[in-house]
Amino acid sequence: MAVRIVSMTEQDIPDAVECVQTAFADDPYFHWLFDSSEYNIHRNAASLAAHFQYGLNCNTPMYVAKVPISDKHPNPVVGVSWWYAPQPSSKPVPWSVWAQDWLLSFRQLLFNVRFGGRGGLNLERYYLWKAMQKKTHDAVWTDPRGYYFCNVLAVNSEMRGMGLGRKLVEVVTRQADREGLSCYLESSKGLPNLIIYEKLGFESVKEIDCVDGKDACRLYCMIRRPKEKFPMV
Ligand SMILES: CC(C)(COP(=O)(O)OP(=O)(O)OC[C@H]1O[C@@H](n2cnc3c(N)ncnc32)[C@H](O)[C@@H]1OP(=O)(O)O)[C@@H](O)C(=O)NCCC(=O)NCCS
Repeated sequence: MAVRIVSMTEQDIPDAVECVQTAFADDPYFHWLFDSSEYNIHRNAASLAAHFQYGLNCNTPMYVAKVPISDKHPNPVVGVSWWYAPQPSSKPVPWSVWAQDWLLSFRQLLFNVRFGGRGGLNLERYYLWKAMQKKTHDAVWTDPRGYYFCNVLAVNSEMRGMGLGRKLVEVVTRQADREGLSCYLESSKGLPNLIIYEKLGFESVKEIDCVDGKDACRLYCMIRRPKEKFPMV
């Protein structure tokens, strides 16, 4: 089947949201972060769409795998990779990104009103994870030029094992190699993701344990060093 890996556009957002929501329905981190009794899939979709719009406005590397529309694939988007570009530690966040951060927060506030809350998001856990994540990044992100951060990678279940995940990752890792930069990701699914990412050149560097009472979630942090001539930092 002819699959194309292309940059995400505004038109792709609804299909990309559906692809990510479906692929992460059984994700341990997702289940730890959201209260299932209060989960609102529409609130979640609005938030994801706003994040994608944010990514487009900030020129974030975001790609979709597309197939021709058919009865089997009524939505052309069958895979998504959503990354954050490297942010050098010496440079302040550009004002345009700062403005988009505020716009995103404002949109989330409006969604809270429209949907009557955060749709089951456990805010305490979110901030707990953010704090743990920052501590981890401070320890393992040693390159002052920053890292390509793979925030989300998703392929529709019926299309897995066909090389789409690899293509969606390599579109960015090739760029990272050209620039001599590392890539980073966190996965809450141990198997098979650790094996898959190892095949894509990532190695485990740390585990983050987010513990809230009896509920814990482990995130596996992995880094892929640039290939070829650039020195490792
Ligand atoms: C992770 C995910 C995106 C991988 O996508 P995919 O299209 O199936 O991956 P690919 O087919 O490109 O496989 C990449 C490599 O992993 C290997 N692989 C794929 N599935 C595997 C499995 N279940 N067990 C072992 N190896 C596997 C492939 O053989 C390939 O290696 P190779 O090119 O050296 O042969 C997909 O499984 C997914 O959407 N999972 C649910 C969402 C998720 O967990 N995302 C990651 C969160 S960080």
